[in-house]
Amino acid sequence: MSNQRKLKKLPQEVVNQIAAGEVIERPASVVKELVDNSIDAEATEITIRLRDGGISLVEVADNGIGIPEEDLAEVFTAHTTTKLESLDDLNTLMSMGFRGEALSTIVAVSDVSMVSKFEDEEIAHEVKFNSPDDYKVTGAAREAGTVVTVENIFDNIPVRKKYLKTAQTEYRNILNTLTPYFMIYPNIHWELFKDGKKVVDLKSTSSKAGKIDKERVNEVVKQDFVERMESVFFDGNGMQISGLVAHPSDHMSRTKYQYIFVNGRNVWDNGVAKSVFQAYDRYIPHGKKVPFILNIKIRPELVDVNVHPRKEEVKFLNPYRVYSSVEQAVSKSIEKLVSYKNIPEKDSFEGVNKDYRKKLNYYERGSRDINFSKGGSVKDSLKFSRAALEKTSQSSFLENIHKSDTDENDFVEQCREEVTSFHQIFDKYIIVEFKESIWVIDQHAAAERITFEKLSKATEIENTDTQNLLVGTEIKVDDASGEFVKENIEFFNNLGFNIDIKDGKLIVTSLPVEFVQADVEKLITEVLELDLDELKKDLDRLKEDMVATMACHTSVRSGQKLNREEIKDLYMKLLQCDNPYSCPHGRPIVWKMSIEQIDSKFDRTY
Ligand SMILES: Nc1ncnc2c1ncn2[C@@H]1O[C@H](COP(=O)(O)OP(=O)(O)OP(=O)(O)O)[C@@H](O)[C@H]1O
Ligand SMILES: [Mg+2]
Repeated sequence: MSNQRKLKKLPQEVVNQIAAGEVIERPASVVKELVDNSIDAEATEITIRLRDGGISLVEVADNGIGIPEEDLAEVFTAHTTTKLESLDDLNTLMSMGFRGEALSTIVAVSDVSMVSKFEDEEIAHEVKFNSPDDYKVTGAAREAGTVVTVENIFDNIPVRKKYLKTAQTEYRNILNTLTPYFMIYPNIHWELFKDGKKVVDLKSTSSKAGKIDKERVNEVVKQDFVERMESVFFDGNGMQISGLVAHPSDHMSRTKYQYIFVNGRNVWDNGVAKSVFQAYDRYIPHGKKVPFILNIKIRPELVDVNVHPRKEEVKFLNPYRVYSSVEQAVSKSIEKLVSYKNIPEKDSFEGVNKDYRKKLNYYERGSRDINFSKGGSVKDSLKFSRAALEKTSQSSFLENIHKSDTDENDFVEQCREEVTSFHQIFDKYIIVEFKESIWVIDQHAAAERITFEKLSKATEIENTDTQNLLVGTEIKVDDASGEFVKENIEFFNNLGFNIDIKDGKLIVTSLPVEFVQADVEKLITEVLELDLDELKKDLDRLKEDMVATMACHTSVRSGQKLNREEIKDLYMKLLQCDNPYSCPHGRPIVWKMSIEQIDSKFDRTY
C-alpha cells in the first residue's frame, strides 16, 4: 500500500473545479451570483431566462453600468473584482460581491458568453468562452448593461451533474432563491422567463432598495396573511431593523415565509429567527412559527459576510445585541397587532380553534379535566379583590380597574358605551355586541389571561390578595420538587401561596383568591411537572411558565353559567389586559365578526 502512495499536485483545472463546487452547487447558485452582480452594477431592470430549470440555460440581463472592453475576459479569472482592494475594505463593504470568484467559478463548470456595454464606451462587446483559457472578444450590439449566458452547467463534470434534480425541482430552487430578491429590491423591475414563457413581471415601485414594501410582498407571496402583517421599525444599538411580521393568529407549523436580510443580503441566522419567535411567545401555541420578513441594516464593521461559501450566513460581532434588538423590535409590532382594535375578523368558524385542540394536549390536561362542581362565582372572587384593594391599594392592576370605573375619558369606558349587549352561550362563550360587529369571547381563556397578567404583576410587587385555607392542603412531593419549592419560596409567597415544607410534603395554607375553587394539589403538581431543570436556566421564563400553568386553574371555567354582572366584569377586565388577544398558551380569546361578514352569509347587502 505504502509503495502506491505518491504525493501529487492536482492540475489547476481540477483545483478550480473542486473549489467551484463550493460556490456553484446548482443552477440556482448561478442565478444568485449573476443577479448579485447585476445589483452591484446598480441595475434597475433585471431579466432572467431559464431553460430546463436552468440546467441547459441561465441568462441574466441587466441595465447596469456594464464592463469596459479591456476587462471583459479578465473578470472571468479568479480573484478579480472591482469591489474590494484590501481585507480592510470588508469593514465598509455594502456590495453583494467581494471575492472576485463567481464568474471564474461559473466559467469553470459551464459554457459561458457575455455581452456588455460599458457606460463610458461607444459600443458593446461580447466575450465567448470555449474553455476558461480559450475565448474570443468581438464587437456586439447592446444598448446598455450586461447579459451573461450560462449553458450546460456541469456537462464537463459528470460527478456533479448527476446530483442535479429534475428541471422542475431545480426551477423551484431558483424561484426560492429569487423570491427574497424580489422582496428586498422593490426598486428593480424583475422579469422571469421559464422555457420562453414569462412567469414573473414585477414592475418597480417607488420604494428604495432595502425597503420591505407590503405591495411588493403581496405580489410575490400572494397569501392572505400579508395583509394582516404589521411593519417593524427599530433604530438603536448601531442598527436599524425594518420589515413586516405576521399577526399571531396567522401562525403555522411550517418554516415557510421567514426571511432574514442583513444589509439587503438574504441570509439565514437561527439566533435571529429564535429572537423573533421569542417575541411571539405567549401569543402563539408552543412550537408554532409565524411569517416574518426582516432587514437588519447594521454597520458593515459589525458583521462578517465572509463566513459561508455561498454567502448564506453572516457572523455578527455582537450577536446578542442584534438578537435583543430583534426581539424588542418585533415585540413592539406584536403589541400593536394584538391591541383589541386589531383582532382580526375571521371568515368562518372553521380553523380558529381546531388546531389548538389537537396540539395543546397539555393545555387540555391542565384545564378541562378539573371538575366544575366546586361552587363559588367570579363575583365572590371579585369581592375579595375589592376588599383587598381597599386595604392595601398596592395592586396596580386593581387600581386600574378602579380608575376605569370612574374616569370618563378612559378608553375602556368608551368601549363600554359602544357595547349594546352581553350574552353567554353554551355556558362557555360570551357574546358582546357592538354597533358594527360582535365579539365571541372564550370565557375560560379570557379568565386565564386576566389571572396570568395579574399574577405576573404580583411577582414584581408583593401581592396580599390571598385567601387562607381552613385546613391546609397536603401535597406529597419528591425531594427535588421539595427543594425547588424551598429555593423559590419567595416567588410562591409573593403570588399569595403560603407553603410549609415538612417530611416530603408541601402544606398549602393560603393561596391567591383566583384559586379559591381550584384543585390546589393539581395546580401545584402541574407547576412542579414543568421541566424545571431546563427552565431554571432562564429564571424569567421559568416564572412565566409557572404562572401560565397556574392561570389554567382560574375560577371562571368553561361550562360555568355566569350572570350578567360576571359577564360584564370579565369583559372589562379583559380590556385592561396588555394582551386581550390570546391566553398564556397562545389560544385565541376573542373572535370578531363584522356585520358585513354576517350579512354576506345571507347574501344581504343592506
Ligand atoms: N452584470 C455586471 N455588470 C457590471 N460588472 C459586472 C457584472 N458582472 C460582473 N461584473 C464585474 O466583474 C467582476 C467579477 O465578478 P464576480 O462575480 O466574479 O466577482 P465579484 O462580484 O467581484 O465577487 P463575488 O465572487 O463575491 O461575486 C465584478 O467585480 C464586476 O466588476
Ligand atoms: Mg459577484
